[in-house]
Amino acid sequence: MTSRPTRRAFLFAGVAGAGVLALPGCSDTSQAYRDAIAEMTRPLPANPDLRDLVRYATLAANGHNTQPWKFALQDKLIEIRPDFSRRTPAVDPDDHHLFASLGCAAENLSIAARARGMSGEARFDAAGDGQAQVDLSGAVQEESELFGAIPTRQCSRVTYDGKAAPSDVVDRLEAAVAFHDVDAIFISDEKDKEDMLSLVVDGNSQQIDDAAFVVELKEWLRFNPDAMVASRDGLYSAASRNPVMPSWLGSIMFDLAFTKQSENDKYAEQIRSSHGIAVFVAQSDDKQGWFDAGRAYQRFALQATADGLKQAFVNQAVEVPEVRRELRSLLGIGDRRPNLVVRFGYGPEMPRSLRRPVQDVIV
Ligand SMILES: Cc1cc2nc3c(=O)[nH]c(=O)nc-3n(C[C@H](O)[C@H](O)[C@H](O)COP(=O)(O)O)c2cc1C
Repeated sequence: MTSRPTRRAFLFAGVAGAGVLALPGCSDTSQAYRDAIAEMTRPLPANPDLRDLVRYATLAANGHNTQPWKFALQDKLIEIRPDFSRRTPAVDPDDHHLFASLGCAAENLSIAARARGMSGEARFDAAGDGQAQVDLSGAVQEESELFGAIPTRQCSRVTYDGKAAPSDVVDRLEAAVAFHDVDAIFISDEKDKEDMLSLVVDGNSQQIDDAAFVVELKEWLRFNPDAMVASRDGLYSAASRNPVMPSWLGSIMFDLAFTKQSENDKYAEQIRSSHGIAVFVAQSDDKQGWFDAGRAYQRFALQATADGLKQAFVNQAVEVPEVRRELRSLLGIGDRRPNLVVRFGYGPEMPRSLRRPVQDVIV
């Protein structure tokens, strides 16, 4: 049987061959990369202008780091619009992840606005393409620990250390996501984690067999800091502990180096090393619900970051429709759609993925 490499194989791998592949002179950082990180994560000023707020919004999670958003600046309001030129049709044919990504950005923006004495109320408007408005009129200042975590949150796609999170930390996670009409189902029992793992492996295996999925993923991979700085979007492979290499070699390695079996083994290790898994389930299976799921996830990720936890998506179980149906019956959620699946636990800080400059995302 032949196997093709996949997003997860390449991105999530502890990369068995990393030692062999470590190339002399290939560093996961550069001055230009460090400068870009410093600029994008610099603290929000006490009196931010709208561009500072947009910068904080763009630090949100988003599928494949395509940053599928545009921001329209208005008087006391920022509108977040979808950028369909940045969709990922193979992994996300109905734009579910795209609208969830807008929800992540809206939540960051809302939290940042409140921390600077603005209302921050966000609403999704389903008319036309579907967009969100965040209100910036004056309000009581509310600086939360979620706000403090915005510049440091990241998706950590590596094996964690297996330590359990104390119950008060899990309670805080549950409280952080109890917003926006989204249910978060927490799974930490070993047997339930194994059931989730088998769905992740099933979805992952089906994605490996989908050539369009693999081609799309490869287009968004960045194999070294120069490539990351040049595009300031896409998936930085070093963030998943993959060896840094020239783009031409990364492309060849991607085509050659990984098998379905090794990837699935790594998933097993990653899920088993995590404290638990959270599944986000919105009320409606439409753009509004997808947007809400993104907002709830972003709150979860920020609270996790504030408490020293790491987290990463394992969305294979919701990306393949047939597997998603199995997940739905496993969770006993009737005909509601499970939107996002995230594992969490304790793990290392990883290199960051860059964002495009603010001027590039303002219309
Ligand atoms: C809706 C959505 C779906 C995502 N799906 C996956 C996924 O299946 N696997 C994964 O590793 N990361 C996934 N991500 C995480 C993004 O790849 C990540 O947010 C992006 O690369 C930026 O990196 P950062 O979050 O570390 O800043 C997803 C993010 C969002 C918002």
